[in-house]
Amino acid sequence: MGEQDDKDRQRTPGKEPGKTIGRRDILQGLSTVPVLGLFGYAVKKQAGYENARVEAKTGQAAPAGKLSEINVALLGGGDQGEVLLNSMLKIPGLRFRAICDIWTEYNQKKLVNRLKKFRFDPNGYEDYREMLDREKDLDAVVIATPDFWHARHAVDCLRAGKHVYCEKEMSNTLEGARSMVVAARETGKLLQIGHQRRSNPRYLHCYEKLLGEAKLLGRIVTAQGQWNHSVKPDIGWPQRYAIPEDRLKRYGFRDMRQFRNWRWYKGLGGGPIVDLGSHQIDIFNWFLGAPPSHVIASGGTDYYDPATHEWYDTVLAIYEYQTTAGKVRACYKTQTANGSQGYFETFMGDQGTLVLSESEASYSGSIYREMSAPAWDEWVQKGYIAAPRIQAVKPEEAVAVLDVRESVSPDEHRVPVELTDPYHKPHLENFFNAIRGTAKLNCPAETGYETAMTVLKVNQAIEANQRLAFNSEEFKV
Ligand SMILES: NC(=O)c1ccc[n+]([C@@H]2O[C@H](COP(=O)([O-])OP(=O)(O)OC[C@H]3O[C@@H](n4cnc5c(N)ncnc54)[C@H](O)[C@@H]3O)[C@@H](O)[C@H]2O)c1
Repeated sequence: MGEQDDKDRQRTPGKEPGKTIGRRDILQGLSTVPVLGLFGYAVKKQAGYENARVEAKTGQAAPAGKLSEINVALLGGGDQGEVLLNSMLKIPGLRFRAICDIWTEYNQKKLVNRLKKFRFDPNGYEDYREMLDREKDLDAVVIATPDFWHARHAVDCLRAGKHVYCEKEMSNTLEGARSMVVAARETGKLLQIGHQRRSNPRYLHCYEKLLGEAKLLGRIVTAQGQWNHSVKPDIGWPQRYAIPEDRLKRYGFRDMRQFRNWRWYKGLGGGPIVDLGSHQIDIFNWFLGAPPSHVIASGGTDYYDPATHEWYDTVLAIYEYQTTAGKVRACYKTQTANGSQGYFETFMGDQGTLVLSESEASYSGSIYREMSAPAWDEWVQKGYIAAPRIQAVKPEEAVAVLDVRESVSPDEHRVPVELTDPYHKPHLENFFNAIRGTAKLNCPAETGYETAMTVLKVNQAIEANQRLAFNSEEFKV
């Protein structure tokens, strides 16, 4: 399991072959609508990010320009720490002072050396408390340690006066997540949780323009999300760089195998529903404008060996949302034995369907108009959506067998916003801009807590084998 590998091998989900009743005629007008606004919009969305781009291979740090400098440390330099560091190296005005990682002989060394190539001179630490004691001029700490460390790391960094970007899941326990909200409030320091879709220009466009302003879906009735993951062997390690046992134990790991595969272990991670599902369930809450009222879920370790995969490898969950417009039911699936169709989210309303994904390679963003909905010409002209891609017409014989009572699959309008930057960069930029006072956090502690509550309850519902209610007070700290 692991999000990054998935992102590299997404495939476009199978699309229904086009059905053929005379929609071509109906939509002929639309297909000729000028789309001059389209590219302008996408280009403008990207412009802000383009400035910051720097080619890593040149070994040059991004120029600071007129931005004030922010002193940054990375706490947790594993797979995701490296991804975040690579994104941060493209953001101007950051000075990397320290890398803290308990795997001193491997991950820590690798990232310290990486930064040296960019002409930084960071100190390496094994113990984050030593780092906080010594690095007095740190402004911000970016945390990418395993979930069960997040609360301690984030709270101590906040209390040491640092702003914190902490990866999702905010914590593997609600108590931990709550302590983070409290620490952020009490210290007045910023705490951004790493649900990076909240800063993704395509997601923002769909939320603000398509759902908010144009209301293209009408009354939303259902939502759906999935993350299908292929079978993956356990994560290994180079034997000569194994961490000595006493150090592993000091940091809460039984052995190297557990250290490398912490996501699957109770008390350390939360399994795929937390690791993968939290991103997309966060989008349910965001786009539906409220957390859910109930959840029912089925899950188990159906494929892997429960001795090494303590958390459920397969989960199906159904949430009920009571939105201001009415009831919405949202279904989420994650499974780890077949990666077909990858990961995406779908929202269906009485006027349209939105399908979107963080992945640029698969279902990155499409919207489909119901035949009975008002025309979307205005939104095409404004560049909010692309002109429709008319479904292919089938030969006459195929038409003959299509039952007239079947619903016709609507034509596809692409969402014209692409993210050409690394997925995490906009969210990190939002964090650093908030430190500079030029932006508001897109995923502050309270939002992260709401999502953690929504997601962690799925594991509780599976354990209880019951439909569980959320008390609206539970979402507040
Ligand atoms: N936002 C995303 O898209 C995304 C993607 C992947 C992972 N993540 C999150 O990032 C975090 C890290 O995941 P990962 O895949 O990089 O895991 P990983 O196991 O590859 O890396 C964790 C790193 O933390 C270090 N570490 C462990 N305990 C530590 C401690 N007490 N102090 C200092 N260092 C410690 C380890 O040595 C390792 O280098 C997790 O919370 C995960 O959920 C987020």
